[in-house]
Amino acid sequence: MFRSALMTVMTEAARKASKGLIRDFGEVENLQVSMKGPGDFVTAADRRAERLLVDQLSKARPGYGFLNEEGGEIIGSDASHRWIIDPLDGTTNFLHGIPIFAISIGLERDGQLIAGLVYNPISDEMFHAEKGKGAYVNERRLRVANRRELETSVIGTGIPTLNRPDHPGFMKELTAVMRQTSGVRRLGAAALDLAYVAAGRLDAFWERGLNPWDMAAGILLVREAGGYVTDLTGGQDMFKTSDVVCGNEFMTRELRTLIANARKTG
Ligand code: IPD
Ligand code: CA
Ligand code: CA
Repeated sequence: MFRSALMTVMTEAARKASKGLIRDFGEVENLQVSMKGPGDFVTAADRRAERLLVDQLSKARPGYGFLNEEGGEIIGSDASHRWIIDPLDGTTNFLHGIPIFAISIGLERDGQLIAGLVYNPISDEMFHAEKGKGAYVNERRLRVANRRELETSVIGTGIPTLNRPDHPGFMKELTAVMRQTSGVRRLGAAALDLAYVAAGRLDAFWERGLNPWDMAAGILLVREAGGYVTDLTGGQDMFKTSDVVCGNEFMTRELRTLIANARKTG
């Protein structure tokens, strides 16, 4: 498969950073038994991966800016390009030895997403997309599922944790969705949830309270796989509202309506 110079840069950076994450993931399992909590160790692994990504991408594309989970915003001399990076999406899984986590790299040009990569180093699945060129996992082209009924669909979501607001509101949404579908999944890595929608593994996905680095690459993957991505009002302000709904056109609309109606009920 032909891979552009840009995608080669992105995949090489992700592969390099993944080596450290794989080593550290193996180490976490030992730490689980030897220490009270491997939290600090994981934070260090996360930061190491981010530094390596910034280093590699800056060398290959000097001047591009960054919006990173750990290091925040880095303003570049090239005002039109910005990388949006989560060096480790699925930290809680990583910490618990669950092999569902990913490196996520998105690239914006003048505020538009033009490239995205989500890499799970354990399954060695590299999801990647460039604007107008389609979405792929490794060498295989991706299409969102074409299912048009909720009853047989499997829907991904993110469950708010202890430090997140509005647990009762989420329970309303979940109740509405579980009543009408074949199943709800919580992978624990939003970047992979979006990649799984692009791959047609999940029919749709919704989550509130996400950050741009959780979604940037995944949004482009879904779009390039022929899917739709909106915020919960049907707009395109996912980075501002922090929420996202996606799937094929029909499922995105159905899920958004279901969630809006769930909120109206007492
Ligand atoms: C988290 C994961 C999780 C989602 C959380 C995110 P992190 O990112 O994507 O699935 O539910 O909202 O913060 O902390 O593992 O990078
Ligand atoms: Ca992270
Ligand atoms: Ca994340």
